[in-house]
Amino acid sequence: MTPTLDSVRELDRRDPLADFKARFALPEGVLYLDGNSLGAQPVAARAALDATRDQWRDELIKGWNQGWFDAPERLGDLLAPLLGASTGEVIVSDNITLNIFKLLGYITESQGRARPVILSEGGNFPTDGYIAQGLCRFAGLEHRVLPEGADLADYLDERVAAVVLSQVNYRTGRLRDMAAITAQVHEQGAEIVWDLAHSAGALPVDLHGCGASYAVGCTYKYLNGGPGAPAFLYVRRDRLGTSWQPLAGWHGHAAPFAFDGDYAPAPGITRFRTGTHSALIYAPLEASLRLWQEVDMSALREKSLALTELFHDCLAELLAAEGIADITPPRAERGSQVAFVHPEHGYAIVQALIARGVVGDYREPGLMRFGFAPLYLSYEDVWQAARHFREVVERREYLEVRFQVRSEVT
Ligand SMILES: Cc1ncc(COP(=O)(O)O)c(C=O)c1O
Repeated sequence: MTPTLDSVRELDRRDPLADFKARFALPEGVLYLDGNSLGAQPVAARAALDATRDQWRDELIKGWNQGWFDAPERLGDLLAPLLGASTGEVIVSDNITLNIFKLLGYITESQGRARPVILSEGGNFPTDGYIAQGLCRFAGLEHRVLPEGADLADYLDERVAAVVLSQVNYRTGRLRDMAAITAQVHEQGAEIVWDLAHSAGALPVDLHGCGASYAVGCTYKYLNGGPGAPAFLYVRRDRLGTSWQPLAGWHGHAAPFAFDGDYAPAPGITRFRTGTHSALIYAPLEASLRLWQEVDMSALREKSLALTELFHDCLAELLAAEGIADITPPRAERGSQVAFVHPEHGYAIVQALIARGVVGDYREPGLMRFGFAPLYLSYEDVWQAARHFREVVERREYLEVRFQVRSEVT
């Protein structure tokens, strides 16, 4: 049965996370279901950005000694508890693509180049596979692909140095068993780099509890760090040895201001820095991470599941009647998104929804993705978004010519 407006308003009244919504600056009239692509702006982010801009004007070069230079480690320490990691194990730097490159190079170097194969997965966000391919090409390694749906055991052997997998799939939102897979890979003597792009800030992550040694992820999605906000990289303390990472830059040097002729990696996580970072873009992210310190992650998970369930319950009959496939995984295997497929009109349906202020996104072929960020979405928002979806489809609004035009970013 479709939930009533009264029933969802009651859920909002009882929601322990309800007060967080006021701490985000969402435009009037927008129902934002795209926090899995770019998170909303925390109110505090704007002030932080302004303060850093003023700091640049007033303090000039002195700003680097006033919190700019050590931002990658400071923000890494703020993020660590959200990932189930410890202080000194996380750095905020560069982007996911570069961070995977650094980790894969570091792992093969740490293993003494004894194993020649890097394994990435076919159904993952493509950059993870591209960068694994790139490293293999330039380092003389072999790239192997785990096809979507294949059994990992069939692709793991004593030649595999490292595997790159996403904990939550970017298309379907399917959540993997990180503990079991990490153990399986370690048993084979290989390492695994977890991509947490769709996990961090979407659900509780327990890197230590899962035995994970390496991970990367972004901060511009559920963590609301802003467009182009830097990514993170995690290495468990016992893996922080003496090896080099391949992007050996001056900020990752043991003594960057000694300007030595030769590279020597900094101790600890700092060696995963490369060159100069943007102090400006760290400022809003820091404001957001401070807000995240207040969030009860189990309440977040509970609400995330309730929101995805609500969206599904409101639309189940319509989807069946209209031949729209719901590929959202079952509760226990779900991230914080819902995925529907309509090969012919998926793109136009998303465009028609955006025109009504309901923002989701589209991925080829035919995939409509809706992300649910529990900090700034209410139950009523989700109910209203489902109502718009129903109207767009039932009234065939998506057939209008203006919704067929493709933009560069979908
Ligand atoms: C799973 C996954 N990995 C990586 C990326 C992007 O990586 P980068 O930060 O290098 O742009 C995305 C972007 O959406 C993603 O979903």
